[in-house]
Amino acid sequence: MNQTVTTTLFARIGGTKAIQSIVADLFRRALADNDLKGYYDGIDMNKLTDQYVKFLSATLGGMKQYTGKGLRKAHNRFGLTDRHFERFTDHMAEAMRGADIDESEIEEAMAMIMPLKKEIVAG
Ligand code: HEM
Repeated sequence: MNQTVTTTLFARIGGTKAIQSIVADLFRRALADNDLKGYYDGIDMNKLTDQYVKFLSATLGGMKQYTGKGLRKAHNRFGLTDRHFERFTDHMAEAMRGADIDESEIEEAMAMIMPLKKEIVAG
């Protein structure tokens, strides 16, 4: 019998555990970045970590539901630029590299994440 097995990118990169360590590393990098760290003043980082894990899991094809307020609403008040977005997504790719994700899968993930720019950058 012919069987087609489709595996999501979420599953291929290691599921929730991998995403949790990527997000933890992403925030370590963002908080060490002078262009980004000021935006996290007064933010509950444990809560934010949970929101990013859910959001990224859902975006990369996992089962977790993201039920937050949405990207536009979350970032609107910061007036973020292309440069902020670029630095953040570079940190994200580096965090994936640090978690030993294959380059081809990092490319796949970034192709799903880059189109979110229009919701995050002010315009
Ligand atoms: C690919 C890029 C990004 C993605 C996918 C992303 C995703 C998210 C998500 C899912 C939330 C939670 C929204 C909710 O409340 O449900 C959030 C909040 C937040 N993001 Fe981002 N984000 C990105 C880029 C950035 C950048 C460049 C910054 C600037 C440093 C940033 C700073 C924040 C902050 C400070 C919050 C908390 C807002 C609040 O609680 O009031 N994000 N983001």
